[in-house]
Amino acid sequence: MGCNGWERVRTLEIAAALLSGAAALIFAGSAVAETPVERGHYLVESILACGNCHTPKSPGGMPVMERNLSGGGLMFTLPPFSGAASNITPDKTTGIGAWSDDEIRRAIVEGVRPAHGRLPNTQLAVVMATPFFKAMLPRDLDAVVAYLRSLKPIQNEVAAPTYRMPVRHDKYPDAEAGFTEAVMAEPVRRGAYLVTIGHCMECHSPSDKGVPDFARLGAGGRVFNAQLVQGMPKEWPGAKAANITSHPTAGLGRWSDAEIKRAITQGISRDGRRLQPPMAFAWYARMTDADLDAIVAYLRTVPPIE
Ligand code: HEC
Ligand code: HEC
Repeated sequence: MGCNGWERVRTLEIAAALLSGAAALIFAGSAVAETPVERGHYLVESILACGNCHTPKSPGGMPVMERNLSGGGLMFTLPPFSGAASNITPDKTTGIGAWSDDEIRRAIVEGVRPAHGRLPNTQLAVVMATPFFKAMLPRDLDAVVAYLRSLKPIQNEVAAPTYRMPVRHDKYPDAEAGFTEAVMAEPVRRGAYLVTIGHCMECHSPSDKGVPDFARLGAGGRVFNAQLVQGMPKEWPGAKAANITSHPTAGLGRWSDAEIKRAITQGISRDGRRLQPPMAFAWYARMTDADLDAIVAYLRTVPPIE
């Protein structure tokens, strides 16, 4: 791909990450003083990476931050569904400005739209990772809603989706088991929480005809290409999700912590190869070091699978 759009994208992404890094430092240092909007900002713009789908992208693949979360960033053409990510800014007509807090919470964790407005009572397509988001602690879910409410309303009509089959959500074991505030003090469990709400294993577990195989958690193999996902730069070659289990050769078993963190935040593999989207490297780069360490600690516990 050479020194083209992507290199520029990286530079800009890093600049953006540095700017929000200052905020992240404040968060890490004073979790108690953090307001719900600040917490929601941190989560949405880092581990949750809502904008990876919901923020429009420039032709070079850069998120257009002036239009953050206003919809249409990525489009999907899958057997059960064709459509784009919705406008989730508080615009009253084209966004979610007329929804109550409860209705927003329900859409995120249950995947159901309210009984009024655009597409009333419809279920959100499976690409919205609701079986993972449902693991969010109540405090974090409230914070996400507070942050979405604080956004600038942007008018942007996203074309209506086409549904071809009923929505089928597969349960993610850690999300079903749930998390508590108390376990957030243990790095491995906090890492499991972040990996759950970041739906890492949705991409990184094998899947057969849309059915994920969580018995092979983290073994990789899912393929992403321009037939399935639209909105990437023209030259995007697609990507196949890697094995991120603790297997010594097939997975991350022999990687150092720093190498794993570099892959997650900068999109550089152990051998220096540049990793391709759709993984949300630029968002993950805004995570605090403590949260990244927790993710690495958890990944080390994922059973090795070849
Ligand atoms: C992998 C891509 C992806 C990610 C990541 C994602 N979404 Fe979505 N989201 C979608 C798509 C696609 C739709 C539209 C689904 C449909 O039309 O059935 C959607 C719909 C929604 C809706 C319904 C709005 C409406 O009017 O239709 C809300 C609310 C929402 N997402 C919030 C979020 C939040 C908050 C996050 C981060 C926690 C998030 N999404 C992360 C893809 C994504
Ligand atoms: C939207 C799908 C998706 C999500 C979500 C996702 N990844 Fe990835 N990830 C990929 C793909 C695809 C690749 C391979 C990219 C390539 O080879 O160019 C990858 C590569 C990686 C690599 C590099 C492995 C190697 O061998 O080079 C690591 C480490 C990784 N992901 C960890 C994570 C973690 C941790 C999370 C959650 C915080 C996560 N991923 C979320 C799709 C995803």
